[in-house]
Amino acid sequence: MLERQKHRLRATLQSDYTDPEIFTAEQTELFDKGWITIGRSGCVPNPGDYMTARLGLRPIAVVRQKDGSLKAFANFCLHRYARLLDGTGNASSIVCPYHSWTYSTAGQLVGVPDGQGFCNVETKSLYLEELACEEYLGFIFVARDKSLASVSERLSPLAALVEPYGLDGWQDRHVVHEEEWDGNWKFVIENFIESYHTTYAHKGSIGPTNPTRLAEQGPTGHEFFSIHSNSYRPKDLPPMHNPRLTAEDRNKFHVIGLYPNGLAAIDANFMWWMSLEPKAANKTNARWGLSFAPETMAGEADPKAFIAEVTKIIEIATEEDKDMVERAQDGANFASAEPGYLHDWLEVYVHEFQAYVTEAVSGARAA
Ligand code: FES
Ligand SMILES: [Fe+2]
Repeated sequence: MLERQKHRLRATLQSDYTDPEIFTAEQTELFDKGWITIGRSGCVPNPGDYMTARLGLRPIAVVRQKDGSLKAFANFCLHRYARLLDGTGNASSIVCPYHSWTYSTAGQLVGVPDGQGFCNVETKSLYLEELACEEYLGFIFVARDKSLASVSERLSPLAALVEPYGLDGWQDRHVVHEEEWDGNWKFVIENFIESYHTTYAHKGSIGPTNPTRLAEQGPTGHEFFSIHSNSYRPKDLPPMHNPRLTAEDRNKFHVIGLYPNGLAAIDANFMWWMSLEPKAANKTNARWGLSFAPETMAGEADPKAFIAEVTKIIEIATEEDKDMVERAQDGANFASAEPGYLHDWLEVYVHEFQAYVTEAVSGARAA
């Protein structure tokens, strides 16, 4: 008992992962009020390309404009609310499947069938609700609140740390749009941002090459992200084609949390990224993909084989993570009042993330 009392870091309670009221408070305080990452710029590279996502439970869509900029909209029709777009695709206009109201890709209502029945409505002056949208480090961020400080301002300390990688120019070559995990979104984040589990949970993928014992503590105390690294064993050093990286960088697999819902792990050649959409206290949509450094794509003799090899390993690693998250969720169903334990430094980022969430929702829970 004494040991327990002396231990510095304790985990949040099991109920934090199962309680619908806590889930709702997180949706309101974090997903409604902040910047959320929904994927990579390469998911929508060309004019007319769109992808759909969720801000919490709200359906949204982003559409690449003719001038190359990206607009984000509430993904519902102004007529009687039908969701307009599904999945991903390319469109020259947005046509509602219900009664065929038609919008330009900039969100303006441009067509109403049998429009004489709407004589008091100035249809051409109607627009889909536009949301704040920013692309940074090659990620797409969306927010409902247009007055928030920009993502580039919030993440500038992270950008400085990963600057030599040139992440905004990376090629997004493999995207899994929808994958439902039976676990709370926080379990997915917390799993990814610690390298304590690597040796034990990733026996079939990255455990042998990036063992737990090579995890290094990174900087702590950042408000909007976490970063640490887990090195390669010397005999598994990956190729390196980016001349801006040092020999030291070549060892590194940087693991990054983009609070509240984004994840990325970067080495000299590729990035494994995730953006999470919580669906219920015990269900999360995980969108994930792989991006590759342009220098690697240019320098590898067979880039397709390189992509296939990385994809194979990371697909296994993702399955292993999914299994652990779903186990944690099931364990939390016990509803114990005893908090778990966090490793003083291998899980310090989990602790910071939990403090970030707790602080954000504490006002809503007290009200
Ligand atoms: S709900 Fe979209 S046209 Fe009717
Ligand atoms: Fe993992």
